[in-house]
Amino acid sequence: MSIRDLLKAHGKPPREVYFDLENSGLVPPEVVDAMLPYFNRIGYGHPSITHKVGWEAYEILYETKELVSKTIGASSPEEIVITHSGTEANNLAIMGFALANRTKKGKIIVSAIEHLSVIFPAETASELFGFEVLRIPVDTEGFIDPEIFQAYIDKDTSLVSIQMVNHEIGTIQNIKELAEIAKDTNPNVIFHTDAADAYGRIKFRVDDLGVDLLTISSHKIHGPRGVGILYVREGVKLSPILRGQLSVEKLWPGVENIPLIAGFKKAVELAFTNFDANVSKMMILRDMLLRGILDNVPDVLVNGPIGEKRAPDNINVSFLYVEGEAITIEFSLRGIYVSSGSACTSRILEPSHVLLAIGRKHEEAHGSILFKVSRYHNREDIAYALSQIPEAIDRLRKISSLKPRKI
Ligand SMILES: Cc1ncc(COP(=O)(O)O)c(C=O)c1O
Repeated sequence: MSIRDLLKAHGKPPREVYFDLENSGLVPPEVVDAMLPYFNRIGYGHPSITHKVGWEAYEILYETKELVSKTIGASSPEEIVITHSGTEANNLAIMGFALANRTKKGKIIVSAIEHLSVIFPAETASELFGFEVLRIPVDTEGFIDPEIFQAYIDKDTSLVSIQMVNHEIGTIQNIKELAEIAKDTNPNVIFHTDAADAYGRIKFRVDDLGVDLLTISSHKIHGPRGVGILYVREGVKLSPILRGQLSVEKLWPGVENIPLIAGFKKAVELAFTNFDANVSKMMILRDMLLRGILDNVPDVLVNGPIGEKRAPDNINVSFLYVEGEAITIEFSLRGIYVSSGSACTSRILEPSHVLLAIGRKHEEAHGSILFKVSRYHNREDIAYALSQIPEAIDRLRKISSLKPRKI
């Protein structure tokens, strides 16, 4: 019986709680409603063509840029580039920079726990254009030591890319401090931050942080998948990495996906309505779930920091002596949907590079489970999860071959 058959055969659990928001978000009805008219009633035209429906398409596109620009403190909507995903925005930041600066080359500095959509393009920039790529280590909670960081920056550093919040372990990096160090040491450094897991949950302004490039992903804030943003500070030189017919975006060719952009705009509006109350709610639910797990399940390691320095929505724990894949299946039978490691790693059963970078052993990384809470969860969801998790882990440990050896 395949896993799919097993999950189908098991029938509907008494309650379903979706915690896999790292990999794809829930899209609320308001966002779906905002998208629908753009398929066939308004704005279905090409946004750079001058007729009524083209103009309507341009309008929603421009309003989205205006809104995003306001929420991050950019100086103009022209600094907002809309792509089709966070992955594309990160690729544009790294490869677009490398392509534009290929004759100067230099060093690209990333942290050891960046998303692969930063690490892989940095490696490609090295292979294609000869940039030297350096990966800064992090401590056991995922933080970069400012002194170590400073030692990495020199006159040859051309680009730094450090994420604001780690997508797996929730570490909130002090980007303002790191950007200051980088620019004080070498004023020519361009600083990129991947804020996919920060936007809509942590308040920031690009002018305050001092960053030049910043990434956002729509599905991380309950928008539709397939929209990404790259903030490009005016004057920063990037080259388009895709070639083709330009529309409104001068760095991203192809026709913009107007219905998804309209959905993303609504998701931004919702994320910034009652921002503080929503973040407090996430923190309460996060702490309730974490405390409940630690109090009721033995042999659990928390991955990443605890408290204020952790993203309000992130819980990542390693259940020792069980495989993450077995946990996701057992939880799924009970209506609890989580991921093991990250989506990029879970199917190939490689331990996550993030967990290895914070010093987790392979077997600890394998039993890691990521839960993300949102403003759409409630206390009953957490209570239901806590009613199932101890029993589920206990059952798996009884049949696991990874049990601790008795001395
Ligand atoms: C930190 C981070 N950056 C970038 C991305 C890529 O975004 P997208 O899924 O929109 O391609 C993700 C997605 O999981 C992420 O977590």
